[in-house]
Amino acid sequence: AYRTDDDYDYLFKVVLIGDSGVGKSNLLSRFTRNEFSLESKSTIGVEFATRSIKVDDKVIKAQIWDTAGQERFGSDFYLCVFSIVQIAFSICVLSCLFDGDIYADDIDGRGLGPWKLRKEAVNDEKQEWGRRYRAITSAYYRGAVGALLVYDVTRHVTFENVERWLKELRDHTDANIVIMLVGNKADLRHLRALSTEDAKSFAEKENTFFMETSALESMNVENAFTEVLTQIY
Ligand code: GTP
Ligand code: MG
Repeated sequence: AYRTDDDYDYLFKVVLIGDSGVGKSNLLSRFTRNEFSLESKSTIGVEFATRSIKVDDKVIKAQIWDTAGQERFGSDFYLCVFSIVQIAFSICVLSCLFDGDIYADDIDGRGLGPWKLRKEAVNDEKQEWGRRYRAITSAYYRGAVGALLVYDVTRHVTFENVERWLKELRDHTDANIVIMLVGNKADLRHLRALSTEDAKSFAEKENTFFMETSALESMNVENAFTEVLTQIY
């Protein structure tokens, strides 16, 4: 039968997650375009790319989603957001004061009004950001049937954070999701901070697949994605 480029039997959504700088975007570009960049910038927003592979005569189209892995769990990111929010509110309150719209005494009669107002406003804003953040997160994971959870074999902290990524993943996806733990940058042998065995036994304990890759040397990239897609299928 005649097949066009966009003819496929299955469409699977796969997400890339893991700390910033572990090589998610380069794994994606290696798999979908056979490209690698030494000076890639941190991903902004969400990007995705597709590639079709053939398994048992069936065409499986993978739609792979990639986002920035900024340390959302650590306090730095929130601190940054809230500082900006706080400054914005201080400016708002001050401009209100100088406009003469709200006077300090108007709020509670003790002259502390603006500070109280500001605190409440910041709390509201925090909740709002929490809501927005959760909405973005669930949109990212929605419908995903596979995930590559990437860490960097040369940075131990990226492996320590795997547990948190797993939790986020399991909170937002179906229990049947196929998860592949990926230790990237295996080419940097002299800088390795984590043994293959440790990662392997962690993966066994957590019931995920495991592979070490190098987006730079094109090692196991194809295998990692193909294995996930085959397992889903
Ligand atoms: P965020 O978008 O910030 O979450 O980062 P990311 O996980 O997408 O990382 P990215 O793909 O941008 O790679 C970060 C850096 O690591 C870049 O300088 C890449 O060139 C480098 N890098 C990625 N994969 C490899 C690899 O397999 N080996 C080596 N040596 N460097 C790699
Ligand atoms: Mg990226």
